[in-house]
Amino acid sequence: MDNLQTEPSAQLIQSQAYINGQWLDARSGQTMPVHNPASGAVIGYVPDMDAADAVDAVLAADAAFQSWRHSTAKQRATLLKAWFNLLVDNADALARLLTLEQGKPYAEAYGEVMYGAAFVEWFGEEAKRTYGDHIPTPMPGKRYLTIKQPVGVVSAITPWNFPIAMITRKVAPAPALAAGCTVVVKPGEDTPLCALAMAKLAQQAGIPAGVINVITSSQPAVVGEVLCTHPLVKKVSFTGSTVVGKHILGQTAGTVKKVSMELGGNAPFIVFADADIDKAVQGALQSKYRNSGQTCVCTNRLYLHDDIYAAFMAKFTAAVAKFKLGDGLLEGTDIGPLINAKAIAKVSSIVDVAISQGATLLLGGQVTGSNQQFYQPTILTDVTEAMDIAHQELFGPVATVFRFSDELDVITRANNTPYGLAAYFYSRDNSRIWRVAEALEYGIVGINEGIISTEVAPFGGVKESGCGREGSKYGIDDYLEIKYMCINIED
Ligand code: SIN
Repeated sequence: MDNLQTEPSAQLIQSQAYINGQWLDARSGQTMPVHNPASGAVIGYVPDMDAADAVDAVLAADAAFQSWRHSTAKQRATLLKAWFNLLVDNADALARLLTLEQGKPYAEAYGEVMYGAAFVEWFGEEAKRTYGDHIPTPMPGKRYLTIKQPVGVVSAITPWNFPIAMITRKVAPAPALAAGCTVVVKPGEDTPLCALAMAKLAQQAGIPAGVINVITSSQPAVVGEVLCTHPLVKKVSFTGSTVVGKHILGQTAGTVKKVSMELGGNAPFIVFADADIDKAVQGALQSKYRNSGQTCVCTNRLYLHDDIYAAFMAKFTAAVAKFKLGDGLLEGTDIGPLINAKAIAKVSSIVDVAISQGATLLLGGQVTGSNQQFYQPTILTDVTEAMDIAHQELFGPVATVFRFSDELDVITRANNTPYGLAAYFYSRDNSRIWRVAEALEYGIVGINEGIISTEVAPFGGVKESGCGREGSKYGIDDYLEIKYMCINIED
């Protein structure tokens, strides 16, 4: 198979947004194009909505909440299972659509669809287990109980890097719907088609009108202001940069909304002298280069112990040099394009500045492709914390290599960042494994493992990487309020 056909995706491409169970144009009539980042070609047009459409969506979600909140967990679980089945049945078509508008290689896109679908199944099951408590009483005449209730309308502002999985896991629908909330999803400007396709399948699954609404817009600030300040919105779940996350936190403060923030990262990847080098190289390749490095949990800083530096670098560099750059729908592609011209400009500038500050370019470092939207898999060595690149989230296929000789020193350097999302390290020493895992100031730690994402484990960061947890048995709590009931049983 030379060129993976895109035909199956055509039936999933929507050109209207989804509000209150209806497929609608923007009130203004404006549309916006969606591009294939691998070629620059226009794949389709979607409504370019503004504040008025966002208010319509919030009102629809609030109206739907009044009945959806009274549905039983079993009813919601049944609908989520039907949606899950449709996502799996359409996995191939969804994956092609994902590659078409986001660029990641088909195999990664397919993996994302299955990963995303898994959250829908997981939270449908979790819906049935949102237990309250009976609290043993210290007062003979009083009884204490808690119940969990849905928080209400949720605004889900999702990114372009995982246009399917970030909707189902990090941002609202699956956990929110399972908890009994309703949602307004605002997908990334570059990737609205996957979100609309998922809404189409949710509609087919029988999820009632107004429970999921998807609005598309090229004006995130305008639409975002409604989604983050409207009094009927009770929670905002955002995945994106720390800068935007801080702005949103400010906006939500006015009406004291509940928030989940999955923000930026600066993941260290530490290889100790006692590590299994082959395993560490494999983990670094996966964690650094998947999705062209456009992942919040991607390795950002590689710390190699002096004793294994040469052995690791020989294998790592040889493997990176073999990566094939190209259209994600072509067989054999390892690395796709970056999402847009702005991303290319940012990565190029970060690398150029690092070189000007003394880093050595070992591999790559060039923009390429007919539409200049591919960045070569790159390795920079001789990187130090004095350089800007050590403190920036790269979001591109660029490995920056640091050296160390002492455990405490490398832990201190790894923690020396305002971010705290994911960290990785490789060691075969059991005592060191516990010591380092406990000392790293991160929400997620991969130990002898470069791929940490799964629906069954909590995903989220500390420090300026955000707050709240998505996925796992904890993820649903972010969409529930605990109500305490004190009952006086004396006559
Ligand atoms: C992200 O970049 O935030 C998502 C990464 C993942 O789910 O593995």
